[in-house]
Amino acid sequence: MKNSIILLLSVIFFMSCSNQKKETVVSSKLNKDSTFANVKDRAWWKEAVVYQIYPRSFKDSDGDGVGDLKGIISKLDYIKSLGIDIVWLNPIYGSPNADNGYDISDYESIMKEFGTMDDFNTLLKGMHDRGIKVVLDLVVNHCSDQHKWFTEARKSRDNPYRNYFHWWPAEKGKPAFRPGSFEVDGSGWRFDSLTNAYYLHYFSYKQPDLNWENPKVRQEIYGMMRRWFDKGIDGFRMDVIPVIAKDTTFPVITQKELDEKFRGDWFTYFASTPAVHTYLHEMNKEVLSKYDVMTLAEGAGTTKATAMNFVDPDRHELNMSYHFDGVGIGIEKGRYKVMNPNWSLLEFKTVYSDWDSVFANKGWGTIYLGNHDQPRMLSRWGNDAPEFREASSKMLTTFLLTMRGTPYYYNGDELGMTNAKFDKIEDYRDIEMMAEYGKVKNAGGDLKAFIESQKTGCARDNGRTPFQWDSSAHGGFTTGTPWIKVNDNHAYINAAAEDKDPASPLNYFRKMTALRKSSPVLIYGKYTLLDKENPQVYSYTRELDGKKILVMLNFSTKNATANTVIDLSKGKLLINNYATPYSGKELRPYEAVVYQY
Ligand code: NOJ
Repeated sequence: MKNSIILLLSVIFFMSCSNQKKETVVSSKLNKDSTFANVKDRAWWKEAVVYQIYPRSFKDSDGDGVGDLKGIISKLDYIKSLGIDIVWLNPIYGSPNADNGYDISDYESIMKEFGTMDDFNTLLKGMHDRGIKVVLDLVVNHCSDQHKWFTEARKSRDNPYRNYFHWWPAEKGKPAFRPGSFEVDGSGWRFDSLTNAYYLHYFSYKQPDLNWENPKVRQEIYGMMRRWFDKGIDGFRMDVIPVIAKDTTFPVITQKELDEKFRGDWFTYFASTPAVHTYLHEMNKEVLSKYDVMTLAEGAGTTKATAMNFVDPDRHELNMSYHFDGVGIGIEKGRYKVMNPNWSLLEFKTVYSDWDSVFANKGWGTIYLGNHDQPRMLSRWGNDAPEFREASSKMLTTFLLTMRGTPYYYNGDELGMTNAKFDKIEDYRDIEMMAEYGKVKNAGGDLKAFIESQKTGCARDNGRTPFQWDSSAHGGFTTGTPWIKVNDNHAYINAAAEDKDPASPLNYFRKMTALRKSSPVLIYGKYTLLDKENPQVYSYTRELDGKKILVMLNFSTKNATANTVIDLSKGKLLINNYATPYSGKELRPYEAVVYQY
């Protein structure tokens, strides 16, 4: 009798726990608007706006100068107020932080600086309670050299973990060159004297590449993914996923071959290995297909010809991918991320239009202008001079939220945050920047000019400075010393001030998320580029089931005319980024206009 009461109580307890879990799951029900009636293959992740949070720089709750999970929790209502649907968090796992969390030493714990698993559970529930889904970063091309798998693997050639990594025994001589992105000598092989062998690392030597050919490695990863999904997360953004598979005979590749077959790009060479699709298909079958989740590939090295293979629904691999052709525009060849200020809008239009056409009938695209690996979108594609800052910030927001494909919007861009523009190397923190600086130094280059070039260039720290909450010390980000300097312009670019100002970039972003959510045509509508040769204005239409929208964006500092030959006399102005409405004739500098017609 006593035993059956205990059993009954435990069943009731278990049921209440599982009900609780269900209550916090965000509904994936789709909007019932009739304009969606003829849309095929609807999905919640197609209809969502994703907001990317860089946890290290978002909000510090304990004064150690590093953003953390409790900091994000304290800002949940702000996040909700943006009108976004999904939050993507950069890595939050155990890590010695050689590459700000992209070097993971424990996939199932939380980085000490960020908090605890309890904090994560609170964060997840807080997001779900507000109807926001949570996507984490999956970093499985490599782990940290401090991960148990690697510390074991190094011990001896017959260690059970040895085959979790790629080794080249030194008695075979030096291995063929492979690039290590974050190394001063540029090499992706590191000699390890303990076992007289080289190991492969495409990034820094602290990020050894995992051997996906080993089924045990794949099973470890799938198990870890399942445990996160069982906890209730809603998806993964997959770090450099196309490069997990490589030709492990490591042949010598000539520059000519690289140029002719792989756009001169090592990552395209790695991403072209067919085995990647075998692995992703297997991952889908064993893990992804069992959950209602979304997946996004960081499509390093993918091209318009290969991207579909990752996201074609018939292949059962991933949902979406993001390309690098857009963020590659204007980078001067052969120079580290130096941006040509005269980048071409014609090229910009061609790149985004061509990529739209890749997914016009099948698959699904993405759209982004900035993230933690890029400079601030405003400084790069808009104009951060005081007279143009607000208008150009809003214009870029208009672009992101009126294109087809799921928008990925980077935290701080809603305020119009600008590049860090550091004056000295001591202000930088990024491992990649350190390597590039070392290269210039070793080559006897002009270090001052190099630092200067990065103020408008693509150094990643330009986009990683702390979120500017208010005008107080360190922008309200921390009460301690921030891990990286806060931009001085937090005095006037900050969330508190912008929240109060109805005409601020922040409030414009809120209006744009609301507009997109209430306009099926902006989500699924066909995209058509207009006025292709106009060097100042980017105009396009979106059309769905008789609803038509015209978007006109002036990307220049001068007045400009859009030659769209669409009669707007009966049209309805949906949004405009200037205080006084569009004249119907010339677009003012960085003016953005969205019409229904
Ligand atoms: C891409 C990530 O976005 C970047 O931040 C990181 O450094 C590399 N992958 C290596 O993980």
